[in-house]
Amino acid sequence: MIGQQLTQFLINEQRKVPGATGELTLLLNDIASACKAIGHEVNRGALAGNLDVIGTENVQGEVQKKLDILSNDIFIRSLEWTGHLAAMASEENDEIIPIPAEYPRGKYLVAFDPLDGSSNIEVNLSIGTIFSVMRAPEGKATITAEDFMQKGTAQVAAGFCIYGPTTILILTTGQGVNGFTLDRNVGEFVLTHPNVRVPEDTSEFAINMSNHRFWEEPVRRYVDECVQGKAGGREKDFNMRWLASMVAEVYRVLMRGGLFTYPMDEKLKSKGGRLRLLYEANPMGFIIEQAGGVASTGRERILDIQPTGVHQRVPVILGSKNEVERLVSYHQ
Ligand code: AHG
Ligand code: MN
Ligand code: MN
Repeated sequence: MIGQQLTQFLINEQRKVPGATGELTLLLNDIASACKAIGHEVNRGALAGNLDVIGTENVQGEVQKKLDILSNDIFIRSLEWTGHLAAMASEENDEIIPIPAEYPRGKYLVAFDPLDGSSNIEVNLSIGTIFSVMRAPEGKATITAEDFMQKGTAQVAAGFCIYGPTTILILTTGQGVNGFTLDRNVGEFVLTHPNVRVPEDTSEFAINMSNHRFWEEPVRRYVDECVQGKAGGREKDFNMRWLASMVAEVYRVLMRGGLFTYPMDEKLKSKGGRLRLLYEANPMGFIIEQAGGVASTGRERILDIQPTGVHQRVPVILGSKNEVERLVSYHQ
């Protein structure tokens, strides 16, 4: 029902699952609170000195901005004490993040990208937080990185919060996808986009065109056909978008369809791809599939990949079914 607050929505969903303990509801509520706090710092921007570059590098050799670190700290501090988690994994931490000994340990694991699209911070474009929730193994004294090596199909929930003109939380627990807009006056997320579905067809694609000369043949063929439009074999014009912010691209795909890809290319070969499996590709793949779209590397379904590392990268092609399937078929 449109207008429901997130908490009420989650409890209604929980009641549909026989034997549910409510722990996932509480965890998702706490994640939503963390996103509200991160969104607040994003909005305060330069007024709070939040746009500074601090110049340190994360494990992936990327320059960290103050908001990357701030968002990471807020997420960890908001979740570590709650008793719902056994450990966390973040883009900004080399190793997995244990729960401090003074707090109880819960039954879930969360992998997250505290701030996605951070090259957009200083230009005031949409950025966001991505998260993936998995079950922790039961009865283990110490959680290790190995415990996070679960296929995307094992995700219990996934979502992202986009800090754009409005702050919107997109969520799936495997029963479709719903979107909640933050009502700042009340301080609550409100259901505004129930049962989001990705249209099967689209005439919009998103790719970083500057990598054209590094692409593999299937990607080059697909994009070249789109660019040729009516004058080419597809006899249809396409439009292109590139925001350099996966949350913003995936949000657009959820709202009106499209194909988004960060494919394998010549200079990414040694890294495996650009986007990270555990906290970018898997949660977004889960959301897109739950909304009726498709998510693939070009050679296999994203959610079927057996992870081998916390910061493992993979090629990503996701969005409207018919276009993603076409690009995947070019890989065969
Ligand atoms: P992050 O800001 O978390 O490092 O992720 C940025 C990602 C993704 O959001 C976006 O699709 C892509 O990197 C943009 O890469 P390019 O700058 O190569 O276009
Ligand atoms: Mn990211
Ligand atoms: Mn990030």
